Order: sequence, then C-alpha cells, then structure tokens
Amino acid sequence: MHVEVIIVGAGAAGLMCAATAAARGKSTLVLDHANKAGKKILMSGGGKCNFTNYFIEPDNFLSSNPHFCKSALGRFTQWDFIALVERHGVVYHEKKHGQLFCGEDAKSKASARHILQLLLDECAQSGATIQLKTDIQAVKALEEGFSLSTSKGQYHCDSLVIATGGLSIPTLGASGFGYQLAEQFGLQVLPTRAALVPYYLNDKLRAEFESLSGVSVAAKVSCNDQSFVEDILFTHRGLSGPAVLQISSYWQLGDTVEVNLLPEIDLAQELKTLRESKGKSTFVSVLSQWLPKKLVQTFMQSFLPELAQKPLAECSNAHLMQVAEQFNRWLVKPPSTEGYRTAEVTLGGVCVDEVSSKSFESQRQPGLYFVGEVLDVTGWLGGFNFQWAWASGYCAGQSV
Ligand code: FDA
Repeated sequence: MHVEVIIVGAGAAGLMCAATAAARGKSTLVLDHANKAGKKILMSGGGKCNFTNYFIEPDNFLSSNPHFCKSALGRFTQWDFIALVERHGVVYHEKKHGQLFCGEDAKSKASARHILQLLLDECAQSGATIQLKTDIQAVKALEEGFSLSTSKGQYHCDSLVIATGGLSIPTLGASGFGYQLAEQFGLQVLPTRAALVPYYLNDKLRAEFESLSGVSVAAKVSCNDQSFVEDILFTHRGLSGPAVLQISSYWQLGDTVEVNLLPEIDLAQELKTLRESKGKSTFVSVLSQWLPKKLVQTFMQSFLPELAQKPLAECSNAHLMQVAEQFNRWLVKPPSTEGYRTAEVTLGGVCVDEVSSKSFESQRQPGLYFVGEVLDVTGWLGGFNFQWAWASGYCAGQSV
C-alpha cells in the first residue's frame, strides 16, 4: 500500500500532524501499536487535560538548543489551539498561572476525551486514516520515500513522520522506537532521563515523614539556578506536587534541592521578634501559625529534637538561626526519582541540531520528520508539553 504520508504515533503530535497534512490534500496514514489513540491525552491533567497555557514562552522549554522551539511556537500558538478548541465547542477554564483545562471549572468531571475527540474529528474530516494495533518491524529508505514492514503488512510512503513520544509511562504505549529509528538514520540521540517526576526520600526520612503523607504546602524549591514557587506534596514515597515536578527537570542524580517552606518570611528575623513578645512559646507553637502543626512537629523531631520543646526565651541566636535555616533552607538530596513509571515527560532525545526547526525534517535523511516529545524539547508543567506537540505536529503537517 502506498500513501504520501505515514505518521508513526497516534498521540498528541501525530494526530495534529495527520489532520494538518490531510487537510492539505495529502493521503495520510497514522500507525500506532497501541489499542487506542491518544492514551496520554486521556490521562493528562488528572483526566481534564491541561491542553495549553495562556503564557507560552520559549523560556518554558528545556533543550540543548533553546532557540529551536521558537519558530514552531510562533507559527502555531496557544491562541491557534484555543481557537480550535472553541470551534469544536470544548468547554475549558483557567486553573492558575494561565493553565487551561477542559471543563467548566475545577470541579467538573474528567473531560480530556473532548480534546482527543477534537483531534479524531479533525483527522476524520480531513481524510486521515488511523490504524491501531500495528507493530512496526522494520523501516527502510528507498530511492524515493520509505518502506515499512509492519504486523499488518507492507507500506510505502513519500514522507515518514516519527511521533512516538518519549519513554514515560510504558503502560500507556511509550517505547524507544523513535530514538532507535533516529540512530538507524544516523541522527544523534541525546541521553534521556525522566522529568516532571516525583522524588523518593531516603529510607530514614521516609520512615520519619510517614505521617506527613498527603500534607501540601506552598514552597520555593530551587536547584541549579532555577526556582519554582508552588505547592509541594509529601507522599508515602517522598516528595511530589507541582514545585517538585518542575524542579525535577533541572535536577540530576547527586544534586541537592533547596526547599524554602516559608518563602514569604525571613524566619530568623521573625523568631528574634517572637522571642521578645512570646518568650514562653515553643517553636512548634509559633511556627504552626504559618505551617501545618504536623509538619512543624515532624521537622523539629527529625532535625532539631533538642530544641523541639524549648521555650524561645531560653534559645540563643544560634538556636534561632538553626531553626530558621531548617525551614527557610531545607536541603534535600533525593536518592532517586520515581523514574519513567510515573514521569510526565522525557528529557533529551533526538538532537534538534540535525532537524529543521521550520519543517521538522531531518537534515540527514530527506523525507524523515520528527515531532513532539521524541525530540530534545521538554516543556514545563502547565500545558507546555501539549503546546509543543500541537505546534511541532502542525508545522511538520504543513511541510510533508
Ligand atoms: P505521545 O506519548 O502522546 O504519543 C506517542 C504515541 O506513539 C503513542 O500513541 C504510542 O502508543 C505511540 N508509539 C510509541 N511507540 C510506538 C511504536 N514502537 N510503534 C507504534 N506506535 C508507537 N502535558 C501537558 O501539556 N499537559 C498535561 O496536562 C499533561 N499531563 C500528563 C499526564 C501524564 C500522566 C503524562 C504521562 C503526561 C502528561 N503530559 C501533559 C505530557 C504529554 O502527555 C506529552 O508531552 C505529549 O503527549 C507528547 O505528545 P507526543 O505525541 O509527542 O507523544
């Protein structure tokens, strides 16, 4: 069977690319090994799909070449996707920081399926065909185009688009296919690692913090010159929550993460004042005006047990500084992250230096395109990764 365009991967980028290419009159076939298209879309944003963000900037993306994403993000913007969403009558709301989710408000039911349906409708209207449960066994470059041997037979195409995503969540269909194919055609693949991912804590802290599971506080989390002020969440395995997921993209094994549990407060100064006005109080009672009591008690017991019950009036300046440091500058050295099992995205991937930032065609192999997360472009938490999938998929769809 011959078609003009084959896209491997029926995820966010692949479906966007298919609808765009087919709308230009190209015969387009999407192949996917999964039994369902767009599984990550359905799972995303807690089932409500944070499909884009009002404030998309190139600075919200990590890549070995930070300029690469600019062209596509400028050619297919968040406003283009919002217009598509509105054209399809999908109801959405802003949660915070410009993050757009499906549904009328935070309380509405899971509705990510509306975004998937929008893409499937766009594909159907433009005439793109989606074929699931198809394993790609081999890909060969021909004098003109490519041949694909698959579990459903042999296919030929003029243009081949790889939209197979990253390694995160293998149970949702993730595989290293895109990276292997890139290497087969001589493209460089940069080392990959799990990102937007929770941390484990070491065994000692995990045991001591067990009762904190479910506690969430706003904090400033910093690592390698990058900071995020957002919620952190204590889990039974370690640390999660938006601020932790964000910083995980800037963290490497061995790095220390700094957590300021009271980012608005100069605690050393505040404690000195409180020593004068509330000298009989303990640290637990004064700190509990700003933080959950359970958290303060656990921190004092774990890190500064000798000061836990001491009245402030009996504490030296050095004692106050110790407590202030613990809450304003808690230094955590995570032994690992939860890895690809729960990571939202994969950092690294197909090196963008050999891919056109306008057409997404490989400079080494004419007719071969890479879009979406398989490329070495990773967005922040907050709808940025989907916007990258839409933008790169659209631009390749205009070029194939
Ligand atoms: P994607 O992973 O979507 O699609 C790849 C497709 O290729 C899949 O259908 C897969 O089955 C197929 N495939 C893989 N290997 C294959 C092979 N060997 N043969 C054939 N087919 C193959 N982002 C965001 O902006 N907002 C959000 O709310 C969320 N939420 C979120 C939640 C969870 C749980 C996860 C895991 C991720 C998110 N993300 C997110 C990230 C977002 O889902 C992700 O960046 C995009 O889906 C990437 O789109 P792609 O099309 O590149 O890959």
